Amino acid sequence: MQKQLEEICEKALKEIENANSKADIEKIKLEYLSRKSILNNIKKGLKDLSPDQRPILGAFANEVAQKIEKSVEKKEKDIYHKELEEKLETEKIDITLPGKTIPSGKPHPLTKTIEEIVTIFQGMGFTVTANENSPEVETEYYNFDSLNFPKDHPAKDMQDTFYTKVAPNVLLRSQTSGAQIHTMENKKPPLRIISPGRVYRCESVSARKNNLFHQIEGLVIDKNVTFADLKGTLNEFTRLYFGEARPTRFRTSFFPFTEPSAEIDVQCIMCKGKGCRTCSQTGWLEILGAGIVDPNVLQGVGIDPEIYTGFAFGMGVERLAMLKHAINDIRLFFNNDIRFLEQF
Ligand code: DAH
Repeated sequence: MQKQLEEICEKALKEIENANSKADIEKIKLEYLSRKSILNNIKKGLKDLSPDQRPILGAFANEVAQKIEKSVEKKEKDIYHKELEEKLETEKIDITLPGKTIPSGKPHPLTKTIEEIVTIFQGMGFTVTANENSPEVETEYYNFDSLNFPKDHPAKDMQDTFYTKVAPNVLLRSQTSGAQIHTMENKKPPLRIISPGRVYRCESVSARKNNLFHQIEGLVIDKNVTFADLKGTLNEFTRLYFGEARPTRFRTSFFPFTEPSAEIDVQCIMCKGKGCRTCSQTGWLEILGAGIVDPNVLQGVGIDPEIYTGFAFGMGVERLAMLKHAINDIRLFFNNDIRFLEQF
């Protein structure tokens, strides 16, 4: 029996020495130190020995058990330290490394442009009327007739305007000018509003034209409003929007709902007025339409043109964004190419 114990002790110590992990140690404990271990089995056999042998071998068995226990304890500590060391080594944080950038979304360049323009006009005392005041699915009356368009005006033609199948007079608005009528029907003058929104036109898509785009409509109605007010307001707008004193010019034009009407040009951003491809060698770029509100329009909404006058203007958001940022293709706004969108 003594020999057997010696062998067990030797085998256990060797196994302990070779153990590398907590799992190894657990196995060893189970095999040599638990109640079901070989060692315990031997201890159970002690009672069959002669009385003089029993205490000697009993003491020896205890000695062996203690040796194994001690050795296990020491190994457990070693393994704990080794694993801690490894953990510290692999999980080390290098605080000098640059942080990971988390990609974040941002407003679309058109949204930004609208916000920028709206902010400028708010600074001049205009309030914004939202879409609910002027829907994108509109009637012929608000898009054309109430704005003094003659019944046979070419803009009403199917080629320019998307008509729906809902009803013969229901269309996708081709301009935000209907917002003028909605506003004047709902509020009494004095009025000083702008109304941004989407408009639709039935035309073939190219670098300069998309069949969906955005406009911002403006309307001022008060007593004694003159063309000088229109000029002052829009000159101030171009100065603030383009960020420097950029020459503007007012050209006579025609719109059914304003009289007189004008188109406003800014000096070409590209060539500074010398003449280039962007401005078709004219040195000027058209940025908006405007005019004094036609008395017929005021009468149509029950405002007395003898008491009130006003001016209106309308501008294309894409066009203004393109001119400011030298973007040469309107389709870039709608293609969702991150490389383009990221630049704003
Ligand atoms: N609605 C016009 C267009 O789409 C732009 C415009 C011109 C708006 C003159 C106005 C205006 O309010 O007074 O071409």
